[in-house]
Amino acid sequence: MDTNVELDKIDITGEAPLEEPARQYYFMAKARRHLEAQRERLGRPLTAAVTTFGCQMNARDSEKLVGILRLVGYEMIEEEDADFVIFNTCTVRDNANQRVYGRLGELKGYRRKNPNMKIALCGCMMQEPSVVEKIRGSYPFVNLLFGTHNIYKFAELLCTVFEQSDMVVDIWEDTNRIVEDLPVERKYPFKSGINIMFGCNNFCSYCIVPYVRGRERSREPKDILREIEALVADGVVEIMLLGQNVNSYGKNLDNPITFAQLLREVEKIEGLQRIRFMTSHPKDLSDELIQVMKESRKICRHLHLPVQAGSTKILSAMNRRYTKEQYLALAAKIRREIPDIALTTDIIVGFPGETDEDVEETIDIIRQVRYDNAFTFIYSRRTGTPAAAMEPVPEEQVKRNFDKVLKTVQTVAREQVARYQGQTMEVLVEEINENDASLVTGRLSNNTLVHFPGDASLIGQIVPVCLEECHGFYYMGRQV
Ligand code: SAH
Ligand code: SF4
Ligand code: F3S
Repeated sequence: MDTNVELDKIDITGEAPLEEPARQYYFMAKARRHLEAQRERLGRPLTAAVTTFGCQMNARDSEKLVGILRLVGYEMIEEEDADFVIFNTCTVRDNANQRVYGRLGELKGYRRKNPNMKIALCGCMMQEPSVVEKIRGSYPFVNLLFGTHNIYKFAELLCTVFEQSDMVVDIWEDTNRIVEDLPVERKYPFKSGINIMFGCNNFCSYCIVPYVRGRERSREPKDILREIEALVADGVVEIMLLGQNVNSYGKNLDNPITFAQLLREVEKIEGLQRIRFMTSHPKDLSDELIQVMKESRKICRHLHLPVQAGSTKILSAMNRRYTKEQYLALAAKIRREIPDIALTTDIIVGFPGETDEDVEETIDIIRQVRYDNAFTFIYSRRTGTPAAAMEPVPEEQVKRNFDKVLKTVQTVAREQVARYQGQTMEVLVEEINENDASLVTGRLSNNTLVHFPGDASLIGQIVPVCLEECHGFYYMGRQV
């Protein structure tokens, strides 16, 4: 179905169709009718705000929510005093959860001023039964709770909220369903994320994602390619293929295909200029993928390859299924084949059982691989994961080691990023600089940020920029 479908032409006098996505378009038409009535009653337009708490996949889901909210007639705003407020939550580390509870408390105040306000919560946190219990008990003013598996039903749930006053709760344990062709409104006109797969089967022992996102399932290549073609026709020049482990893409399709083969197909799309992807699990990264990256003109010179820890003992306890030596050999092979690539990573400090010696091994990996950037996290205990039952590391030791790892990351990254000083490279301009409106901000193919003098007319364009001054993780430059 065309996502630009005219909702007003949909007949909502009869029963809702059973097939998808027609059923959701029926409910979008119905929700629009509800909104029109509300607008008339209040004598003003209605506003909505979507807040994203999690990763790129969470952000892409938010774009789907915005697509529907706007189609049914809401005006989208940033502020959280809107008529419809939805938090798309994350639960990967406890601080993500705490932020949601803090913001929910603030919403209670807004709600007092605007009794018309509806509050919805969705995303990964909602897949945890203890969270749902807590919301029911402590935040009874919330109108709607749903999870990650039934987000495609958002329009239908929206109608239920308009039609009943009790809290609407709809959480599924898992699904193998993928609904295509729902509306989506992207944040940037020139770049977009694209889900190629959902869920995760890896069960790293610290990680809650497989429990809240369900089993791995891949989209059909033809659906992915069709979506990218439509995006390119609409002005997109850079795409990011999204999955928890893109290297296992396609294995469970009826006609299996590898991630590398998918990339070859994506490369052929005319007008598309840059291809990125997230995330690659080291255990599944194939020689075929390295070859495709090496030969490609469009795949960016950047690979995010989460290592998590340096010691083989800890990696094994994490259920990562590679050793320190295997990871180092893989990184070396990638560097040999694609010398100008930037490698980035994720690191966890303080996993149960980690000693100072184990942390030295993490530091050794950082020095050997020479990352351009690394996200360093303090281990967060997630209820229900195998690691939650393991003996925690004393807090003081974790803090000390975290600082040590962070310092190493910063030193190495500064040296790595600086290696292009003085060269001219292509920058895709993304936005006006947040702190200085006379500058624009963009990214190199290797994902390094560059700021340089320019104006809004450059946004979405790829321009040559001389990298004049390296400031740690970013450059100041000049368009040439
Ligand atoms: N699928 C991706 C990661 C998604 S979560 C991958 O495997 O690379 C992003 C990062 O959060 C992980 O790479 C890990 O470093 C971190 N993370 C996940 N669970 C965590 C936990 N319990 N405590 C601290 N960091 C965690
Ligand atoms: Fe979590 Fe591991 Fe799956 Fe990544 S691969 S989402 S870290 S279980
Ligand atoms: Fe968070 Fe869910 Fe992403 S837990 S990191 S939003 S998959």
